[in-house]
Amino acid sequence: MTGIVLLGPPGAGKGTQAVRLAEELILPHISTGEILRQNVLDLTPIGEEAEDYMNRGLLVPDELVAKMLMSRFDKADVKKGFILDGYPRNLSQAMTLDDILGARKLDIGMVFYLDSSDNVIIQRLAGRLVCKACAANFHIKNMPPKKKGICDHCRARLYQRKDDQESTVKKRLEVYKKEAASLIEFYQAKEKLHRLSADAEPELVLSEIIEIALKCDDSLKV
Ligand code: AP5
Repeated sequence: MTGIVLLGPPGAGKGTQAVRLAEELILPHISTGEILRQNVLDLTPIGEEAEDYMNRGLLVPDELVAKMLMSRFDKADVKKGFILDGYPRNLSQAMTLDDILGARKLDIGMVFYLDSSDNVIIQRLAGRLVCKACAANFHIKNMPPKKKGICDHCRARLYQRKDDQESTVKKRLEVYKKEAASLIEFYQAKEKLHRLSADAEPELVLSEIIEIALKCDDSLKV
């Protein structure tokens, strides 16, 4: 089985790459941000508790996200592997993840750290559009939908995330930077970390990730 984790600042392109990678490698994509947003839309107790943290650009409490993730990893589709995006965000979550995976005889094979500068991030998030129905990502300039305001994949309406306002993006970056170094060290010590620049075109970033993934895991070549 191939467990892949994508780390990086908000807006680095984790979601964009995770969707493409999941298609290429035929593995399920698990995004904690997406699961939380779906809970908010569905007005679940998790969504009600998480919404305020998310709108303020803060991390949702660890226990809440861990509970949510445990039930996702109980599904059978993760047995052959997974692409995890948005988790872990801090050292405590990294250790929780090891416990969740270990208890299910799953493991992380590689961790990709997508690096990007603050200017690129702010420009990307200011222009991001998300599909309300299928959560596909677009960008007003970099990756515009074929028809303005409409998802290319499912024809539903696109919207701008509440937490993509500039002041909230700055808060998210601040929260991210406080925790990033310890997380990077954690996976570096395990010799699982691959660091790459996410500033290039999405196709180039994807081919770099795939090249490394194929080198690291022979089972992906089949
Ligand atoms: P989450 O949804 O995970 O947000 P994030 O980590 O801040 O990341 P983003 O989704 O903003 O960015 P991304 O890196 O996926 O970039 P994307 O591909 O969309 O989390 C949201 C909130 O949920 C958190 O703030 C927190 O409150 C909560 N949460 C989630 N997980 C949690 C956890 N584990 N613990 C606690 N709380 C948690 O790309 C961005 C834009 O750029 C798009 O428009 C895209 O089209 C464009 N783009 C992407 N790549 C490129 C490229 N190479 N070139 C040009 N444009 C590009």
